[in-house]
Amino acid sequence: MNIILLGPPGAGKGTQARILEESFSMKQLSTGDMLRASKKSGTELGKKVAQVMEKGDLVTDDIVIGLIAEELELRTKIKGFIFDGFPRTLAQADALSDLLVQKGKTLSVVIEMKVDDEALIRRVVGRFNCKECGEVYHKDNNPPKQSNICDNCNSENSFFHRADDNEESFKNRLMAYYRDTSPLIGYYHAKGTLVSTDGLMDIETTHGNICQILGV
Ligand code: AP5
Ligand code: MG
Repeated sequence: MNIILLGPPGAGKGTQARILEESFSMKQLSTGDMLRASKKSGTELGKKVAQVMEKGDLVTDDIVIGLIAEELELRTKIKGFIFDGFPRTLAQADALSDLLVQKGKTLSVVIEMKVDDEALIRRVVGRFNCKECGEVYHKDNNPPKQSNICDNCNSENSFFHRADDNEESFKNRLMAYYRDTSPLIGYYHAKGTLVSTDGLMDIETTHGNICQILGV
């Protein structure tokens, strides 16, 4: 089963992808996480990507398509992928479709996570992550059991705020979503693969709703 989680910044794509990955033998492919990793590498490409991401603009199609192509090439044993934050443009959607055909895979469903703009900003501004394992937290909605220890990997003092989790970058990210990514809703609807879900529910309820959509 290969699925896409589609939704604006802060919709809960990463949170749900990680739960699905743990519950079923699936692999999360987050282009945001991959780009943040390349940013850490300190290469020229990494530095350029970091500037674009901090502003909240989209990285070019060829870079992100290349990242996904590489993952699909390497991870031949994986039975199901969860595409998180990819595709984000029509060109990326077409490229993914070609890549899946080349690998003999099909896209099972595209899940659109609907969350209103006010809730999104609260989620993004209150978010923090573990730098060791990537676990996602929120200061009010999803805090760790102990304030400075990651529930997932037990690392101490490993929490950080993303450079793009501020109001100005968020506005740009939201604009990029409505301008470049929201046309994918019509694109996948026309292909008959789109199902929408209410992303405003709490994390567990949303997971249950997604499982129902997936029939698992
Ligand atoms: P990316 O990392 O993909 O960021 P994003 O799309 O802006 O989405 P987020 O990661 O901010 O939100 P999310 O939906 O994963 O929510 P989360 O689960 O964390 O991309 C970053 C940048 O990289 C882009 O701006 C762009 O520059 C570049 N990029 C990436 N992919 C690209 C591509 N394909 N093409 C071009 N450029 C690309 O949850 C958010 C918060 O809410 C957390 O605190 C969480 O605890 C909380 N929360 C989650 N679910 C719930 C819930 N149900 N109820 C209450 N709180 C919740
Ligand atoms: Mg994310």
